[in-house]
Amino acid sequence: MKIIFYGQNSLAIEVSGKHIIVDPFISGNPLAKDKVDISALKADYILLTHAHQDHILDAEAIAKRTDATIVSNYEIAIHYQNKGFKAHPMNHGGNWKFDFGNVKYVNAVHTSSFPDGSYGGQPGGFVIEGEHKNIYIAGDTALIMDMKLIPMSTKLDLAILPIGDNFTMGIDDAILASDFVECDKVLGVHYDTFGYIEIDHEEAKKKFYDAGKDLMLLEIGASIEL
Ligand code: NI
Ligand code: MN
Repeated sequence: MKIIFYGQNSLAIEVSGKHIIVDPFISGNPLAKDKVDISALKADYILLTHAHQDHILDAEAIAKRTDATIVSNYEIAIHYQNKGFKAHPMNHGGNWKFDFGNVKYVNAVHTSSFPDGSYGGQPGGFVIEGEHKNIYIAGDTALIMDMKLIPMSTKLDLAILPIGDNFTMGIDDAILASDFVECDKVLGVHYDTFGYIEIDHEEAKKKFYDAGKDLMLLEIGASIEL
């Protein structure tokens, strides 16, 4: 499984020959827009954690070009289906076996309105059980006790957690989240994009290191292989 970071919560995942884009927010991200060519991104699926602009901005453009299936909560999936896109609706606690692996839509505590203020369902995260590796994409969320449910059914190889604070968990809560999901290998996301969520990278990494954990902060466009 290969995971590429495109800034904010935007990721590309390659697993079992399939291409998955998560929360594409690139053309509106000053840190990413000159580094990532969205017209070159491959996508069989687009996973959206919630309806906020900094998670869905480029979903339509990518779906239109690639004919990718948009996977999200019921309200977001139906929103795109009504616009003519392929969509797969899920809701909290539900699993579906896709051709790249099992996906479970799990709880997050956050909000989920579309940019025009219309209802975007309840926000969530994704647990993806791939061919050989399992990952948790928390999406935008506070630290929640429900994270403790995840390791009861899935042994994670990587937790992708927001660390920017203000709108989501910050560093200290992300360390606790890593305990809750029983995964010491963390990819930090949702930081530096706006003034509210700028972080000190070295301090963040040191805090994780001191807790016996590994925090990875990737350059935009960089990838990790699991
Ligand atoms: Ni959000
Ligand atoms: Mn966000």
